[in-house]
Amino acid sequence: MSTTFTPAGLRAAVAAAIRAPSLHNSQPWRFRLSDGGIEVRIDPDRLPQVGDPNRWAARLSCGAAVFNLRLALAVAGTPADVRLRPHPHDLDTVALLVPARPRPATPAEQDLYSAIPRRHSNRRPFWPNPVAADARWRLIEAARAEGAWLEMVIGAGAVQTVAEIARSANRVLERDCAYRAELTRWIRTSPAVDGIPVEAGGPVPEPQDLLPQRAFGVRTRAPGRDFEPEPLVAVLGVQGDSATDQITAGQALQRVLLTATDSRLAVSMLSQPIEVPRAREQLRLALGRYGTPQMVMRIGYGQPGGPSAPRRDVDETIDLA
Ligand SMILES: Cc1cc2nc3c(=O)[nH]c(=O)nc-3n(C[C@H](O)[C@H](O)[C@H](O)COP(=O)(O)O)c2cc1C
Repeated sequence: MSTTFTPAGLRAAVAAAIRAPSLHNSQPWRFRLSDGGIEVRIDPDRLPQVGDPNRWAARLSCGAAVFNLRLALAVAGTPADVRLRPHPHDLDTVALLVPARPRPATPAEQDLYSAIPRRHSNRRPFWPNPVAADARWRLIEAARAEGAWLEMVIGAGAVQTVAEIARSANRVLERDCAYRAELTRWIRTSPAVDGIPVEAGGPVPEPQDLLPQRAFGVRTRAPGRDFEPEPLVAVLGVQGDSATDQITAGQALQRVLLTATDSRLAVSMLSQPIEVPRAREQLRLALGRYGTPQMVMRIGYGQPGGPSAPRRDVDETIDLA
């Protein structure tokens, strides 16, 4: 096993990295490759300016990409030492990954790595079956292993409270014409390399919906067909809200999402209550947690397969040092 990353290994790792989730599938990342490693940077030209004015979403997305890089490099036999924000004065450089001592990948790394191409957001209704206790526990452990917490919202009253916070955040965002126009710009009705294809968008929202799905889809529901009545809602959070905390949250988010895929669970994300500062604080108080919520998720058993969002070509995201 090599003590340096090989060019082919680096490219394969970036191919895994770009499968990470991102706000509106904006893919706000660049990867600078050199003999010494991979630098992950925010691409300022790809940010949803209205939806992500402070680059919270870009840091979460790049953090998720870092987690995929870690898995790919570990599975290739040379894991990475990761330095978050290696140039403290440069806010756009998210992480530097350099070769660590070679070792065989663990079975857990192999399982999560193989889940990368199977993971995608599922915005459709899930089956009503409750998520098994051991699967919930695996998700909580996945967040903890990356220095984050995952709070499962338990009980109909608590779910109602979180849902009301999310709906009210959605109303605040929807009142802003610039926000609505930006959201529309990321919806794709014909083949594209970014944005959200309407087929991946889930059914058109209806007034009785408990959770506010973003209106990416065009399909209306058959009469009486609703979302699962008691969704499993979980909130991911970390200790603070610095740039480093947000990158940490991104890595934890991806570990949770891949663990869910590995447990045959489907997930959709709802970030409206994170994007509206007052809603985020209400959410934190409702959970009774220190630290900051970074993502809300709906988790359940969905139909396998389903449409996934496209990605740009891997070579378009790479800069060679
Ligand atoms: C920071 C962040 C915020 C997101 N917010 C939402 C959201 O509010 N609603 C939603 O349906 N998906 C949300 N997503 C999921 C993205 O739309 C999705 O990851 C992207 O379209 C790529 O698709 P994929 O997850 O299927 O690979 C979010 C993802 C990230 C990383």
